[in-house]
Amino acid sequence: MAYDPSTLPDVSGLTIGIIGGTGDQGRGLAYRFARAGLTVLVGSRSAQRAVESAAEIAALPGVPTGGSVTGADNAEVARRSDVVIIAVPWDGHADTVGALAEPLTGKIVIDCVNPLGFDRQGPFALPVSEGSAVQQAAALLPGSRVCAAFNHVSAPLLADPEIDRIELDVLICTEERELVDVVGALAAQIPGMRGIYAGRLRNAHQIEAFTANLIAINKRYKAHAGVRVTDL
Ligand SMILES: NC(=O)c1ccc[n+]([C@@H]2O[C@H](COP(=O)([O-])OP(=O)(O)OC[C@H]3O[C@@H](n4cnc5c(N)ncnc54)[C@H](OP(=O)(O)O)[C@@H]3O)[C@@H](O)[C@H]2O)c1
Repeated sequence: MAYDPSTLPDVSGLTIGIIGGTGDQGRGLAYRFARAGLTVLVGSRSAQRAVESAAEIAALPGVPTGGSVTGADNAEVARRSDVVIIAVPWDGHADTVGALAEPLTGKIVIDCVNPLGFDRQGPFALPVSEGSAVQQAAALLPGSRVCAAFNHVSAPLLADPEIDRIELDVLICTEERELVDVVGALAAQIPGMRGIYAGRLRNAHQIEAFTANLIAINKRYKAHAGVRVTDL
């Protein structure tokens, strides 16, 4: 089966919520989806911070006037969204995700969290008792449809209004084939990106951990490196 973007589902009617949407990664993803004309809800622990961030994102170049980017606290964002991206630091992952189990029931949840540590030798992958951040989310959210994606997408690229295309593959780990299509269609909203199935949740650890390699590459070569899978 070849990668074929023409078969991707229409996601233009979905509301995309971002938990931790005031941070670098959350804001960047919110900006790109808003630029593509999707309805975006920016989440925060503080509704006021969320509203301020949403207003800033809505005013960025390329976001359609009259587009829908609004802010609310994380729980309300979870409740009102069809697809919810978890974009909080690893430190706050379990508490944040666990507290949202009820409003996230039945929702598609995309986890882009990378459990990483940093010391004098640079970035390194942290051990996670569940195996990976996304497996921890799946354990905390038994009623949600959980996958890992956007782990390798660099926030500075997402945030740069001068950059139209971001050439990389979004590796998607999930137990549900249908999620690959929905998340792949979301990735394809960002010109240059493809969403590629990369295995079940038990294979997400390597993808999260590989971000440490990408950060090391970025430091050494002053780049914003991503992954492109060949022969697809
Ligand atoms: N930055 C990147 O390039 C990048 C790329 C790929 C993946 N990621 C992953 O995306 C996640 C977010 O990264 P980031 O760089 O955007 O982080 P960040 O800016 O430090 O944090 C994101 C947001 O999370 C909220 N937050 C902070 N501490 C929290 C806690 N203890 N509990 C709950 N919420 C908390 C904050 O929002 P409020 O204070 O408004 O609630 C903050 O604005 C990380 O897990 C990272 O591994 C990042």
